[in-house]
Amino acid sequence: MRVAVVGQGYVGLTGAVALALQGHSVTGVEQDPGRLRILNAGEAPVFEPGLPQQLTAALATGRLRFVGGLAECHRRTPFDIVLITVGTPPAPDGAADLSQVTSVLEQIGNLLPVPRVVLKSTVPPGTSSRLADAHPWLRERYAYNPEFLNQGSALEDWAAPARIVAGTWSRDSERALRELYAGVASPWVATTPTSAEMIKYASNAFLAMKISFSNEIARMCCGPDVDVDRVLQGVGYDPRIGHAFLQPGLGYGDSCLPKDTAALAHWAGSVGIPAPLLRATIAVNDAQAGLALQMLRAELGAALRDATIAVLGVRYEPWSDDLRAAPSRTVVPAILGEAARVRVWDPATDPAAVAALFPAADPAPDLSGAVSGAHAVVLLTEWPQAIEADWPLLASRLAEPRLLIDGKNCLPPERMAGLPVRYRSIGTRVPVPATAPTAEPQLEATDGAGPTAPA
Ligand SMILES: NC(=O)c1ccc[n+]([C@@H]2O[C@H](COP(=O)([O-])OP(=O)(O)OC[C@H]3O[C@@H](n4cnc5c(N)ncnc54)[C@H](O)[C@@H]3O)[C@@H](O)[C@H]2O)c1
Repeated sequence: MRVAVVGQGYVGLTGAVALALQGHSVTGVEQDPGRLRILNAGEAPVFEPGLPQQLTAALATGRLRFVGGLAECHRRTPFDIVLITVGTPPAPDGAADLSQVTSVLEQIGNLLPVPRVVLKSTVPPGTSSRLADAHPWLRERYAYNPEFLNQGSALEDWAAPARIVAGTWSRDSERALRELYAGVASPWVATTPTSAEMIKYASNAFLAMKISFSNEIARMCCGPDVDVDRVLQGVGYDPRIGHAFLQPGLGYGDSCLPKDTAALAHWAGSVGIPAPLLRATIAVNDAQAGLALQMLRAELGAALRDATIAVLGVRYEPWSDDLRAAPSRTVVPAILGEAARVRVWDPATDPAAVAALFPAADPAPDLSGAVSGAHAVVLLTEWPQAIEADWPLLASRLAEPRLLIDGKNCLPPERMAGLPVRYRSIGTRVPVPATAPTAEPQLEATDGAGPTAPA
């Protein structure tokens, strides 16, 4: 199929690459001239594991190119399908800002012949219907096909999505979508556009709820003889629950969960549905980033005013450079408001981006430089460099009171035990005892029932 993908961000670019590799002829349309220049140089303007290699491979097939506008290409050889993958960022009141989507639809409505349209951007329930009321030509040639990819595994998710949700008003539109995904063997959910919109928001609300639930349980796991890691491990082994997203920290902060939960809550309010569970999920999350400052205040007291704090990591996840809603954006300014100096270290984020986000902080060139002489460390990203660091050495370079706040619960507590630091995590974490040697099993004489289990 001849496919246009409008919007070359995380979703659009990985989609354009994946669809070209699957055999479609793909034109990626990007309005940002800077982004377009990078794409036309054969490079990826966003970070995604494997993307540079797959982009090169897709360009080598001759089936992928990038342009600044739809109209000219469509005039020469019409597209069969136009995928819309533009942003739907949060408006100040939490609602999804749909202006990028409506502007693209205006452009598509002026194309002749009018192509099929597949909207993949995340939009509130009822949006597709309203769009079709405003653009009646859309109804017969439209699919709402939400995207569920995870940053960090976006290309794998395009190649083998956990499910494909096809929200259409006609068999014909569904058939066209099946042709687009020919060869992809994923469960297929055929439904209306409004249900498809709800599936996307409900999925993200549920994932957000699992994280807020973990954070609430972690706050309850605060005694000396309770271990939040074992508690959530034990809970997650229930196949009805699962381990994914059962992870305490300083709150969810990828590019989707904060904005999508806010947009769903806004939409629910607009139609008079109280949605208390969703609102509690958001409230727990909003409070979570404040825990870092609470711990600093509790441990350092008045000394916080003259303290140097090292913040390790500005990303929410190491495998994504998307900083749009990273908890660091709340945590670092909050600490800057109370501490004398804040040093920020992140091994992969452009120092200019860090300086632009936190102009009052000192960028640290390396981990040791960030930590040396600091009174406290706040870990915000599970960087392998930080997890595997020589913590006995780093701890020795800290200044009293040598506080180490693990905002991701990712440092092994058994390695933290015995270090000259005050290790604090989200809920109590207990070192796992070293496993007893198993080379020489101790067989004991019993009453014939075989060897006894170790105590
Ligand atoms: N990022 C994710 O992990 C993810 C996952 C699932 C769903 N989504 C949803 O997918 C949508 C896109 O997300 P994203 O993170 O890729 O967004 P993004 O902001 O990274 O990218 C959007 C791109 O569209 C371009 N654009 C906007 N208007 C345009 C126009 N008229 N013509 C050409 N280009 C235009 C922008 O310049 C930008 O490059 C959002 O609705 C988001 O909620 C995102």
